[in-house]
Amino acid sequence: MTEQNFLSKPYSYTLEKGQVSWQSPSNIALVKYWGKHGEQLPKNTSISFTLSNCHTQTTLFYEPKTKAGFDFEIYLDGKLEEGFEPKILKFFQRIENYLLFLKEYSFKIETFNSFPHSSGIASSASGMSALALCLMEMERKFNPEISKEYFHQKASFLARLGSGSACRSIEGPLVVWGEHSKVIGSTNLFGITYPLEIHKNFKKYQDTILLVDQGEKQVSSTVGHDLMHNHPFAEERFAQANTNLEKLIPILKSGNLDGFIEIVESEALSLHAMMMTSMPYFILMKPNTLEIINRIWEYRKKTGSKVCFTLDAGANVHVLYPELEKKQVYDFIKKELVAYCQNSKYICDLVGKGAKKVYI
Ligand code: DP6
Repeated sequence: MTEQNFLSKPYSYTLEKGQVSWQSPSNIALVKYWGKHGEQLPKNTSISFTLSNCHTQTTLFYEPKTKAGFDFEIYLDGKLEEGFEPKILKFFQRIENYLLFLKEYSFKIETFNSFPHSSGIASSASGMSALALCLMEMERKFNPEISKEYFHQKASFLARLGSGSACRSIEGPLVVWGEHSKVIGSTNLFGITYPLEIHKNFKKYQDTILLVDQGEKQVSSTVGHDLMHNHPFAEERFAQANTNLEKLIPILKSGNLDGFIEIVESEALSLHAMMMTSMPYFILMKPNTLEIINRIWEYRKKTGSKVCFTLDAGANVHVLYPELEKKQVYDFIKKELVAYCQNSKYICDLVGKGAKKVYI
């Protein structure tokens, strides 16, 4: 597969005014994507759990137009959001050659997140993948013969050009992005459903997201990825991520939860270590992030639980645990961890199957 596979063919007819709608989930990386090159290409392979409850629903209204250039408006929760326009414009410019109809229509993008906008949860993965799926739904109207596989691949390919991690939000339960010799079919161009065996221990894996800091991101992901250029440990980090992915394969197959914990927590801390050792340097964890981590470690030691944590590029903590331990760990979270959340806020989520078309 190359980019050529996704180039658009000229369209022979015009669509009447209409609308399409998709709901797409967020995802949480187990092996992290941090560092990119070229046009949104990852420096290492990453793998994520697709989530279920944290999602974005987007409706794309389209209408043929004659005026030159791109024409779109974005509404979040019914409110016009001019602040999102530069990001969407950049996205449209990047994908123009892959969707030739883009300049032929006026668009109204209406988007709703299931999680509060100010929660500190990145909406770019769910938001960009939902928009990419809506655009593919239009593409399918021009080319009804495209296969389901091609539809998913190209949606992921387009989503990647909007936000790297968004390419892992199309399908589930586990998605790999980035070429890896041990994962057949993996590619830098789009995310693929993890093609190898997954033990039942990982079915319906729980993710309770503890909202430690609900403010604006201190470091945008664009700035963060950039810090990996000229980073003294960059090459070692990319190699480590690829090795961690390889180590996860037998763990996912055998259901080895101790092995899983070791890799997932190490990945989270390595990601943050990269930020602490870049120039300029950042500490994105808050004191409460560390309190939560220590409580999790103590609880695990005391009870033998298989609960663990992971982090994104921020202070919030994703608490991961098997469905079998759902009740006990949830009780522990409520009793011991919620006190460290800002305004006691947290979100209960679990592994999901991927995006859904919405019929309206
Ligand atoms: C820390 O996908 O937000 O969440 O490609 O610049 O949009 P852009 O970056 P983004 O980076 C996410 C990084 C991460 C780790 C991960 O999800 O793998």
